Amino acid sequence: MPDAATMEKIVALCKRRGFIFASSEIYGGLGSTYDYGHYGVLLKTNVKNEWWRAMLQERDDIVALDSAILQHPKTWEASGHLAGFTDPMVDCRTCGQRFRADHLGDLQCPQKPSKHPGEGPNCDLTEARDFNLMFETTMGPVKDSGATVYLRPETAQGIFVNFKNVLQFSRKKPPFGIAQVGKSFRNEITPGNFVFRTREFEQMEMEFFVPPDEAPRWYDFWKQARHDWYVDLGLRADHLRLREHDPDELSHYSSGTADVEYLFPIGWSELEGIANRGDFDLTAHAELSGEKLEYFDPQTKERYVPHVIEPAAGADRATLAFLVDAYDEDDLGGEQRTVLKLHPRVAPVKVAVLPHLRKDGLPERAQEVYAALRGRMQSEYDEGGSIGKRYRRQDEIGTPYCVTIDHQSLEDATVTLRDRDTLEQERVAIDGLADELAARLAREWRSPKE
Ligand code: GAP
Repeated sequence: MPDAATMEKIVALCKRRGFIFASSEIYGGLGSTYDYGHYGVLLKTNVKNEWWRAMLQERDDIVALDSAILQHPKTWEASGHLAGFTDPMVDCRTCGQRFRADHLGDLQCPQKPSKHPGEGPNCDLTEARDFNLMFETTMGPVKDSGATVYLRPETAQGIFVNFKNVLQFSRKKPPFGIAQVGKSFRNEITPGNFVFRTREFEQMEMEFFVPPDEAPRWYDFWKQARHDWYVDLGLRADHLRLREHDPDELSHYSSGTADVEYLFPIGWSELEGIANRGDFDLTAHAELSGEKLEYFDPQTKERYVPHVIEPAAGADRATLAFLVDAYDEDDLGGEQRTVLKLHPRVAPVKVAVLPHLRKDGLPERAQEVYAALRGRMQSEYDEGGSIGKRYRRQDEIGTPYCVTIDHQSLEDATVTLRDRDTLEQERVAIDGLADELAARLAREWRSPKE
């Protein structure tokens, strides 16, 4: 059966249920920036927390960092971004639009008849020229060239410039990693496909510093570990693959890069990149700053510049992949339901508490149950509309469990527990309900779409 998820349906659901909407919408939106509403914030926060869990809680060789978005401009000189973080761009003299010269075959000319840019009868494209993707701004009150700073285009460089600080306080030795989550900015020429490619986005990056001769082994390790992270969080394994870059695709700093790709509705596309960056970054920053960025091993008396393996993921792109993978439309005996079959660990709300009727003391009892649950897990109370409508609402935001309080609940202190995926309903005692739910949420979960 074809996958029910299309980009249009995902965008519509995100707007309808308050996950994600165009930024500055009342002013007509701002070129490819998005705002996250309540459920979107909860979902993306869960994705980021799962990443932190994998990096920090489940390992003891990685430490956290939160570096500034604005950094000394020399950072971008050393990293190569000032000189080389460019995409080739063409302008059309007829329609005034700009296009990425290397993506013309995937783009649409805004003029009719609809063709790729350059293929229409009136298209008049300029020669391609390099366009630097970094956003510039001015630091301080005087707008002169000396005060030009850049919004970081990746979180990685904040890690490299802090290598010495972290090495001193963390008492780690290679192999060890520094992890960071935060906003990055790129003035993409052709952003698009919802939050897949935007100009402001969040990255989850980890730089793993290793003795040079161990780099190939750790490169293989992180490729597999990062692929498996998505599978463990329920993305269908047959919608994920690892693709090694061809030599002509490699960035200037990389001796090997592989992408974890996901089969989005737009086709196989990069979800995350894992790169073997060698000693490029530490050496470049050491040269420009004059600081020694190396490790001295007191046991072997050896001094060396560690090599770096970098898994670099996008929090927004991962969130989109979880939404796409979860989206489903079920036929319930003639009635359609739209449902997000999200892994319970990433689902925005874990349980909804619903009084069957808005009378006879059911709301009061339901409020008590809700109060007992909300301290343990993200819960929601809802008494508005028919019970069927409320189930549909929770299905659409991916809530794995609904607890319904009915007249029997008042007699025997039990509730109905409804499972989002199987639609099974069973009676469960209110006493111990939070423990029961916590145990269910911690179980292994595989996508029912598999
Ligand atoms: N430090 C290496 C680095 O930044 P990248 O492949 O350019 O590598 C890493 O970015 C990840 O960040 C990508 O795999 C993607 O998930 C996310 N990302 C990059 N550009 C993005 C954009 N314009 N919009 C949304 N996510 C983006």
